Amino acid sequence: MIVNGKNRQSIWYDASGDEVLIIDQTRLPHEFKVLSLVNLESACVAIQSMQVRGAPLIGVTAAYGVYLGLREDPDSLDRVCRALAATRPTAVNLQWALQRCRDRLAGMPLDRRVEQALALAQNIEQEDVAICEAMGEHGADLMEQLWQRKSQDQDHLNILTHCNAGSLATVDWGTAMSVVYKTVQRGVPVHVWVDETRPRNQGAALTCWELGQAAVPHTLIVDNAGGHLMQQGQVDVCVVGSDRTARNGDVCNKIGTYLKALAAYDNGIPFYVALPLSSIDFSLESGLNRIPIEERDSDEVTEVAGIMPDGLPGRVRTAPPGVRTNNPGFDVTPARLVTALITEHGAVKAETEAISALQGAADR
Ligand code: MRU
Repeated sequence: MIVNGKNRQSIWYDASGDEVLIIDQTRLPHEFKVLSLVNLESACVAIQSMQVRGAPLIGVTAAYGVYLGLREDPDSLDRVCRALAATRPTAVNLQWALQRCRDRLAGMPLDRRVEQALALAQNIEQEDVAICEAMGEHGADLMEQLWQRKSQDQDHLNILTHCNAGSLATVDWGTAMSVVYKTVQRGVPVHVWVDETRPRNQGAALTCWELGQAAVPHTLIVDNAGGHLMQQGQVDVCVVGSDRTARNGDVCNKIGTYLKALAAYDNGIPFYVALPLSSIDFSLESGLNRIPIEERDSDEVTEVAGIMPDGLPGRVRTAPPGVRTNNPGFDVTPARLVTALITEHGAVKAETEAISALQGAADR
């Protein structure tokens, strides 16, 4: 991703200082700040406090966390993996990355583990970039076909997205946003409707920031506006990401995704989910009531974070003191509402047979 004219990733390793560096996403869009993860604890804090977030990026950060933990104590693989696994519950990429680390490192002599853990984390990082690019190209094929049907009657292809499924949610390119960026690169005039995505406003803060950096035309809307815009013919297609998708194609993603999928279905609008195979939980037959849904703090519901009139970050309370709240972080969109899953191996139906056929590729 280009940030202020410079090429950046959301996470990278700097060999000169033996440092793992991240963009602190809790500061965006107000401040661009790079943080160094110095040990296992800081990697855990970064995931838990959402300095890094988004399913693929959580996985890559966990792999680097294993390196940082083993650098402190090469004989601590189990403890390190347990600490990282406890940071966030929903994105399956976290478990996927930790399992890869265990598979590679457990049988290895202690004096080789640290160096191998770093090599593996770097490998997972660079794989993620290639996977996201491939996903973007496959998605762009679909967007181009759609644009061929729409271009007689309108100036832009209007894509609605939810949360941040962009470069910031991965190492680079993103999942849903990779589809957008690759479609733009092919010369299709794209306009993106960005759901603000309460309670943490990843759409407003992060997706708008990165679309702005990439100069992609976009409009921020409140979460409740999407259905109305669909009824008005102002949305051609929805593209979102996923934190965990079950074998039958049920898609778990940021809270509110389900309502957009329902509205898209009711209005005959295609609803695509872009995700790497590492976001598919092949052990889960279906998603509803089976995927652990993160329960988040009450103050995310009763308060809104932003920049205060004095230019400093702050929080404003919008609800009466002491009000009871409920704050599930994710929901499950049933497979029947999903037009197709866009993976690095191409678009597939959100159905058990098609998804199971991908497992071989995932296991390699
Ligand atoms: O709570 P977050 O910000 O980690 O949630 C992120 C999302 O829900 C994304 O849409 C998801 O990770 C899929 S895209 C990479």
